[in-house]
Amino acid sequence: MHPNKQLPCIVAIESSCDDTSVAVLKRGKILANVTAQQHIHKLYGGVVPELASRNHEKNIINTFEGAMKQAKITIDEVDAFAFTQGPGLLGALLVGTSFTKSLAMALNKPLIAVNHLQAHVAALYIDNPKPSFPFMCLLVSGGHTQILLVKDYFDFTVVGSTLDDAAGEAFDKIGKMLNLPYPAGPVIDKFAQLGNKNAFTFTTSKVPNFDFSFSGFKTQILYFLKKENAHTEDFISKNIHDLCASVQNHIVNYLLQQVIAAIKSHPIKGLAIVGGVSANSELREAFKTLATNKKLELMIPALEYCTDNAAMIAQAAFYKYQKLDFADLSITAQARF
Ligand code: KG4
Ligand code: ZN
Repeated sequence: MHPNKQLPCIVAIESSCDDTSVAVLKRGKILANVTAQQHIHKLYGGVVPELASRNHEKNIINTFEGAMKQAKITIDEVDAFAFTQGPGLLGALLVGTSFTKSLAMALNKPLIAVNHLQAHVAALYIDNPKPSFPFMCLLVSGGHTQILLVKDYFDFTVVGSTLDDAAGEAFDKIGKMLNLPYPAGPVIDKFAQLGNKNAFTFTTSKVPNFDFSFSGFKTQILYFLKKENAHTEDFISKNIHDLCASVQNHIVNYLLQQVIAAIKSHPIKGLAIVGGVSANSELREAFKTLATNKKLELMIPALEYCTDNAAMIAQAAFYKYQKLDFADLSITAQARF
């Protein structure tokens, strides 16, 4: 093996939640990013860990072969294999971890372990490999909500964090109350475009510093819907667009308000949003306006790199390869970091 290439060919595997994804990065470019989505979880209104693991097991070979074919590369060309070590669902992570370790062992190639959250940030570098550091990054996914001060590729400080639910979780749980399918974030986004965002107003719990709390907001919506349903038949279905627009507007404004507070006390050159919720159209627009007003560089991943994908794992692995930061074959998946 020759772990000293400037532009290695990396095959990366992501299996932290309910998407099985395989990507190929070669000569600094993503040549394939193939994802098998697991629609079965829609039946249960959320991800069922056991089913996620079984479906990763079922999908991983086809997804891997699909990515290799799309990238038009042979296995001999691969310089390293990368995988998501965590955080995520342990059983789901184990499938990707074991699969990647087997490839690295059988082919005698280096193995690269990637932190899923660092990879969400690395999604920014796929189309912008030389960003202006430091920048403030809002990481908003189904499992995490953090404000990060990003000083270098792997040098972050957590400036703020959610004390309970993540922003994506808030979208999904409120969506469930509104009888929307899982994951509700993209559906709320679509319906919100047809509604009035000022139709209903909500409040959010005050939390110290730059942290977030969504649980009070969620409970408030639950009681609000109970009350309205008691007065008006079919309240939810009659008002679904206005409800989606008002909920989304509230979440976006709350995220924005904490980021504005955080950038006041940290000198930065840029702003970024990453993670599944960064696919939200209102959040993307709000950040564009904020960056223009504050004269900051704005970075948002292309839509396909916002939600879970292996391209971001490959991109993070690329920087680890440069540092020869390889994992031992005894490494294990880690649900929490
Ligand atoms: O990053 P991700 O794919 O998985 C985790 O690492 O959690 O994020 C998934 C989350 C889900 O909660 C989903 O509802 C949310 O991202 N999401 C959105 C949108 N697209 C995905 N939320 C709001 N608007 C969207 N357009
Ligand atoms: Zn994620």
